[in-house]
Amino acid sequence: MPDSTQPLPHASSLSSRSDAGSTRPFVIVIFGASGDLTQRKLAPALHTLASQRLMPERYAVLGVARSPLSDEAFRAQLREGVAAHGRIKPDQRQPWESFASNVSYLAIGYEDADSYHLLAQRLAELSAALGSDNYLFYLSTPPQLYQPIVAHLGAAGLAQSETGWRRIVIEKPFGHDLASARQLNAAVHQVFDEEQIYRIDHYLGKETVQNLLVLRFANAIFEPLWNRNYVDLVQITVAESVGIGKRGGYYDQAGVVRDMIQNHALQLLSLTAMEPPVALNATALRNEKVKVLEAIRSVEPREVGTVSVRAQYRVKNGPTYRREEGVDPQSETATYAALKLFVDNWRWQGVPFYIRSGKLLKTKTTEIVVRFKRVPHLMFAKDYPGIRPPNSLNICIQPDEGVHLSFNTKLPGAGMRTQTAEMSFQYASDFGNALPEAYERLLLDTVQGDASLFARSDEIELSWRVVDPILDGWARHLAPLAFYEPGSWGPREADELLARDGAVWMAGCTEY
Ligand code: BG6
Repeated sequence: MPDSTQPLPHASSLSSRSDAGSTRPFVIVIFGASGDLTQRKLAPALHTLASQRLMPERYAVLGVARSPLSDEAFRAQLREGVAAHGRIKPDQRQPWESFASNVSYLAIGYEDADSYHLLAQRLAELSAALGSDNYLFYLSTPPQLYQPIVAHLGAAGLAQSETGWRRIVIEKPFGHDLASARQLNAAVHQVFDEEQIYRIDHYLGKETVQNLLVLRFANAIFEPLWNRNYVDLVQITVAESVGIGKRGGYYDQAGVVRDMIQNHALQLLSLTAMEPPVALNATALRNEKVKVLEAIRSVEPREVGTVSVRAQYRVKNGPTYRREEGVDPQSETATYAALKLFVDNWRWQGVPFYIRSGKLLKTKTTEIVVRFKRVPHLMFAKDYPGIRPPNSLNICIQPDEGVHLSFNTKLPGAGMRTQTAEMSFQYASDFGNALPEAYERLLLDTVQGDASLFARSDEIELSWRVVDPILDGWARHLAPLAFYEPGSWGPREADELLARDGAVWMAGCTEY
């Protein structure tokens, strides 16, 4: 089995266009450095990249946050995060110190102009030592701070430079609805050009999500079938077995549509439905995704109750959403949603795309199922009644990464009985458990100046345009709030949504 910490050969920029700055020194400034994301994702990813020698020879990690903290204390925090969550543990490949010596900390007030002068000073010192002034600003703060931070970076003259690159990574949620996303885009565009902005959706950094491009566009066998003539329906499941943890305050404002569907699930839908891009670069790729989002039919208020299901987990003596810390006891926020969408273009006219996502479901699985149409005439059926399932392609995004094609086969023995069989590809058996973390890939891409796996402003706005009418309809109670038991597959109403179309939810990835 391959060493799971070896850089995979593809661990460089997605497109072949990686700018010359990729190996030049840079400073990453993490806003919200004392937060959970830094501990769980950013520090482990940076440490892994450094251990794999995918970082330039010289770089600096500058954590900024409100709490006063010494460099030493900050390094100790990161070490804990890397020890708990890193693919490569401290001291495993190289002495922790060789990474930690690049790390420092600065306490700032996010809305205090003087703090940004201090930051500018510190950056000047760091870049003098590094010999280059490439800065990557990473916003991992509560979203209400995005605008003030961006404005202050602009006012302090940190957003543009004649001599080095300046880039900004913005974490989700990007806006709360279409209006706020537009406003945030406009505010960020006042200071940074679109080419400098990297709106992160970590699902795009997942190996298996990138593999959607290869599966679709490096194989000739799927593409001719990938349309309304052969595809009956598409299902996208983003199921989580975890609950909302300690994030009740955030989650109760967001709910599953803002937390998972507007971003992750719609990205999966776009990659599944888009036309082949003319080239592998950020512009071509994002242009095609945008066309899909533009083509998603708007949900009318009168349809909200029939094409969407919203639900909360609830059980008598167990986890119940309304009793979670930080959640309003009368909350109507959905922890589960199921949607039926249509993509109004030539390729997909009439093909339903069903999406579902929820917390505290039976198992964690993210999968895309493309179900093909039945054969026009099944000559075996008259002797052996019983409908055989049509062919389907299961694209297993996580955790059992793989791709499985189901087809009918003859059951050995007398007569012509048929049975479904599978052709399976599994990452674990073919490649070992060597999948890089999404954040490793995405951080590296930002340093290399490749925005292919990041959302463009129009993409973000269009995805809000898709979900806004549904959220509005829910706020107006046009769809009743359903309930489901923790550990189940969701509410009965979600099964009924499909049953009305003669379909059932398919989630097979965890069974291979
Ligand atoms: C985040 C959501 O974007 O994605 C979380 O805010 C969710 O609520 C997480 O748990 C899921 O990510 P993953 O990579 O575990 O599927």
